[in-house]
Amino acid sequence: MKNHKALAPSILSANFTNLATAITETAEGGATYLHLDVMDGHFVPNISFGIPIVQSLRSFADENALNLTFDAHLMIANPKSYIKPFADAGADLITFHYETCENAEEARGIISLIRGEGKRVGVAINPHTHEDVLKPLLPEIDMALVMSVVPGFGGQGFMPHTLDKARKIRGWADEQNLPLNIQMDGGINLDNIKTVADAGANIIVVGSAIFAHEDITAKTREFVDKIT
Ligand code: DX5
Ligand code: ZN
Repeated sequence: MKNHKALAPSILSANFTNLATAITETAEGGATYLHLDVMDGHFVPNISFGIPIVQSLRSFADENALNLTFDAHLMIANPKSYIKPFADAGADLITFHYETCENAEEARGIISLIRGEGKRVGVAINPHTHEDVLKPLLPEIDMALVMSVVPGFGGQGFMPHTLDKARKIRGWADEQNLPLNIQMDGGINLDNIKTVADAGANIIVVGSAIFAHEDITAKTREFVDKIT
């Protein structure tokens, strides 16, 4: 099954005094996703931003006809209480962490909540969580997110062992002919993005390797050109 390929810039490393410009530039550079890293200081040892920022960016994107899929990556301990608020704020795709659930049944409960809001569903696993936990859920979700760093901070080094997780998940999806999206997130740069795409990831998150640069539009374009 052939999936579209998309770049998902993470604004975690952007200049927070000017997020509107940051997302405009990534859209002009050809990005089609906007990756929103929500951190609660419990599930991860960092606090980033939450519902009002997502809402403001959504209004800005709509008013300015920016064609961006709002991709909310919830690194929060209690995702089920926040599905509706993030859906109402304008997320198109909501990803929660499998590690916040006791078992697959609990994960299915959150999947239903996201579906009930009419949104696309992603489930994330940390670099040290076994990919087998996702296998039974694949027919029920739109995207598997394979973290390639321990979540919490931008600018960390890519963990190469996570490539095998993406390869295995892509293999399972292909066996069942599922149109599953696979996202990888963390430590991705111009040198390794091709390897990440070749491992089966089709929605690729890049944070600091874009926003550390002066010309965000040009940098985004370089990344988009590598995967399309
Ligand atoms: C990590 C976040 C990532 C990360 C991406 O907790 O989920 O989205 O910030 O940033 P880079 O590309 O800098 O690793
Ligand atoms: Zn993320």
